[in-house]
Amino acid sequence: MAKEPVRVLVTGAAGQIGYALVPMIARGVMLGTDQPVILHMLDIPPAAEALNGVKMELVDAAFPLLKGVVATTDAVEACTGVNIAVMVGGFPRKEGMERKDVMSKNVSIYKAQASALEQHAAPNCKVLVVANPANTNALILKEFAPSIPAKNITCLTRLDHNRALGQISEKLNVQVSDVKNVIIWGNHSSSQYPDVNHATVNTAAGEKPVRELVKDDAWLNGEFITTVQQRGAAIIKARKLSSALSAASSACDHIRDWVLGTPEGTWVSMGVYSDGSYNVPAGLIYSFPVTCRNGEWTIVQGLSIDEFSRKKLDLTAEELSEEKALAYSCLS
Ligand SMILES: NC(=O)c1ccc[n+]([C@@H]2O[C@H](COP(=O)([O-])OP(=O)(O)OC[C@H]3O[C@@H](n4cnc5c(N)ncnc54)[C@H](O)[C@@H]3O)[C@@H](O)[C@H]2O)c1
Repeated sequence: MAKEPVRVLVTGAAGQIGYALVPMIARGVMLGTDQPVILHMLDIPPAAEALNGVKMELVDAAFPLLKGVVATTDAVEACTGVNIAVMVGGFPRKEGMERKDVMSKNVSIYKAQASALEQHAAPNCKVLVVANPANTNALILKEFAPSIPAKNITCLTRLDHNRALGQISEKLNVQVSDVKNVIIWGNHSSSQYPDVNHATVNTAAGEKPVRELVKDDAWLNGEFITTVQQRGAAIIKARKLSSALSAASSACDHIRDWVLGTPEGTWVSMGVYSDGSYNVPAGLIYSFPVTCRNGEWTIVQGLSIDEFSRKKLDLTAEELSEEKALAYSCLS
């Protein structure tokens, strides 16, 4: 028997990530090729015409899995009955703007959309925040949607995770699908810590630690980290636009693994509500290594953290605490 369609909300759907993301969802990249979907697309009134153009293209693409499209500038209509919400819409930092001004705009957007989701989304709706500052936007959403369980609100660091896998695969000249268990700790910002201390590569001789194969700790502790941290800026420099297809693809990876589960022996990075694991302050949305099963994520426990890593975990936590304080100051 055919499955019931899942309703997936994409906010900021007329933007560049949205344009890459909605066809992936309609093709089954996010939820599987046997899962029908109904797309809910939200944008703001100045983008309404462009949003309608995206809707026209979705119709023209005749995706077999796509059972309906809602394209609207009304947050309540957009959020009604959604099972999954991918929050891509936000206010970008423009030249000359203070950090606080950008934060204040996003705090008010995420406060309003939190209420719309809380009141109108389907029970147990899963939320992924992509728009920057992603961790703090997710935290504000959580605070203003108190009836949505904290475990249902996450932010995207899977793009950083995938970038780290890509760098290791290029360095070792191995397939990216043979590299696993890198970790992105902390903020989706340049303070994040891409950690390879537990990462492995599948080789003809079995699974080998990345450090043993790379044999270059200076590179792993230096250039590798900064390349992953600065990759977003490098893409902007090259494309004159920020990353879009890789962000959309990683958002699909994030939701797919969350809903359908991570493969045995593999973890992924997700920005989730900290419970104090690894001495990260509780109450931040912080990227951890997680495994997923039955639609729920669990932080991987018991990994050894050396002194070098400890400092980096703390540094990115400090930045998130500061962002949290700034966001709260915008509320008063
Ligand atoms: N977490 C990540 O890994 C990651 C990666 C890349 C980009 N991003 C972030 O994703 C966001 C989107 O990037 P983009 O390149 O698609 O930007 P974009 O400017 O092309 O699109 C953003 C869209 O959001 C819409 N929007 C603005 N306010 C809105 C609101 N209140 N409700 C609904 N829609 C709203 C805009 O009209 C626009 O269509 C940015 O914040 C970017 O920094 C995050």
